[in-house]
Amino acid sequence: MPPRNGVVVVSAATAEKARKRYPGEAKGFVEEMRFVAMKLHTRDQAKEGEKEVKEPEERPVTKWEPSVDGYLRFLVDSKLVYDTLEGIIEEAPIPIYAEFRNTGLERSEKLEKDFEWFKEQGYTIPEPSSPGITYAQYLKELSEKDPQAFICHFYNIYFAHSAGGRMIGKKVAEKILDNKELEFYKWDGELSQLLQNVRDKLNKVAESWTREEKNHCLDETEKSFKHSGEILRLILS
Ligand code: HEM
Repeated sequence: MPPRNGVVVVSAATAEKARKRYPGEAKGFVEEMRFVAMKLHTRDQAKEGEKEVKEPEERPVTKWEPSVDGYLRFLVDSKLVYDTLEGIIEEAPIPIYAEFRNTGLERSEKLEKDFEWFKEQGYTIPEPSSPGITYAQYLKELSEKDPQAFICHFYNIYFAHSAGGRMIGKKVAEKILDNKELEFYKWDGELSQLLQNVRDKLNKVAESWTREEKNHCLDETEKSFKHSGEILRLILS
């Protein structure tokens, strides 16, 4: 209907749509990614969690019965994922990835040192297994053709490790490593500051994305949990 007397009539539904904000949006895109990720935790893992416990690694970490061999399988597959991620960021097939070089969150060299320690203790380091190989292959493919989805994995992998990952490392070390603190859980510099620098960069990169691209990134979170969950499960294998 043409506007009468210069008055544009906006339907209630359109006005509602214009006001709609995505959870966390006001604080920046990282907060949106965090909101989606937190809901995919179980209630026991995090207070914002909503997911039902279905897989062994979703049971409370305090009740886990880990083995050193299973933990080594987890660390080896994790290293393959970090090697792959860090290689992609270094090569930067999509120029925005170069922003994320040398953030201080890199884990590949730390894990290399941990494997030296395990070898000194007499353990044999296994070859990577299917969860890690599958995830690494998937990340490589995504990195070339789907930057929004790739960035979702980048965020979840590094931030999960700094939060739940550290807690898991501590509990597992208490149970089977005589409290040995691995390099995997140590950062050069103040971790909270390193994380904040990466949050700022992620927020900046996402500013140039359309709402559709942002939603596509958020929709990838479930896959990130699926792949990381399969790797975590190795601790209990
Ligand atoms: C046993 C498994 C897990 C446990 C126990 C766990 C636990 C936690 C806890 C306690 C937090 C901090 C909550 C807070 O800041 O209030 C957290 C944050 C987070 N977790 Fe997990 N988590 C697990 C698995 C995962 C997985 C598989 C992913 C995704 C790959 C993930 C992604 C995240 C992210 C992105 C955050 C936000 C970190 C931040 O804001 O700095 N978590 N998790």
